[in-house]
Amino acid sequence: MVRPTYGAVLLAAGKGSRMNTETPKQYLPVNGRPILYYSLAVLEASDVDQIVLVVGDGEEEWVREEVVERFGFRKVSAIVQGGKERSHSVHNGLGALRGVDYVLIHDGARPCIDVPMVKRVMEAVEDCKACVVGMPMKDTVKIVDGDNTVVDTPNRDRVWGVQTPQAFDYLMIKGAYEAYMERGGQPVTDDAMVLEHMTDCRVKVIEGSYRNVKVTTPEDLKLVEEFLQGR
Ligand code: CTP
Ligand code: MG
Repeated sequence: MVRPTYGAVLLAAGKGSRMNTETPKQYLPVNGRPILYYSLAVLEASDVDQIVLVVGDGEEEWVREEVVERFGFRKVSAIVQGGKERSHSVHNGLGALRGVDYVLIHDGARPCIDVPMVKRVMEAVEDCKACVVGMPMKDTVKIVDGDNTVVDTPNRDRVWGVQTPQAFDYLMIKGAYEAYMERGGQPVTDDAMVLEHMTDCRVKVIEGSYRNVKVTTPEDLKLVEEFLQGR
């Protein structure tokens, strides 16, 4: 059997407003290397064939020189510009992949992924066409109304916090994003949500890691610094 081909869209076009640093958070140094380096290194070491980096306006040269060339990454096939919302950045990234069967979409601000996790995602997506990594919530989740009054408490066994990578059949997610953009792109908070709105494809949740945090606010930096020791 012919092995399927895998692309990855690695997102680094955000401004990091909640981190509030001059340098966008995905480029901040952790243990001497930019945060973006760590997930790129894992994707490079995995069986992913081709990686598209999505970066902010004017960041292309810096990323090429200081991340891709400096560390000798060889699977980066394109560095493209992102858009205003994360979904626009994903849409641009999907458009730059060529001839892949599946795609993994990953936040450059989540540096603590590992090769076994990427492998789990790749195996799962061949079965189910759409899968996301996540972990069961540790806290009880409350659904509140506009006045912060609790209206529901979902059974915690069924509540997962989802992370990235999220992996999809390439043509299916590309089609879903095209349709979503044509309809004006109402806000979404992950890629699976685009698929949930635009198709009836079922999305599988598989095991990620409690270490797979998204660097969002300053306290997250200390955490990932510890998790990434020795890489
Ligand atoms: N991202 C992107 N393009 C955007 C917005 C976000 O590529 N227009 C990327 C970020 O670089 C990050 C990932 O999507 O790797 C997750 O987004 P988030 O954590 O929200 O990052 P920011 O949008 O940069 O941060 P904030 O929401 O605090 O401004
Ligand atoms: Mg954001």
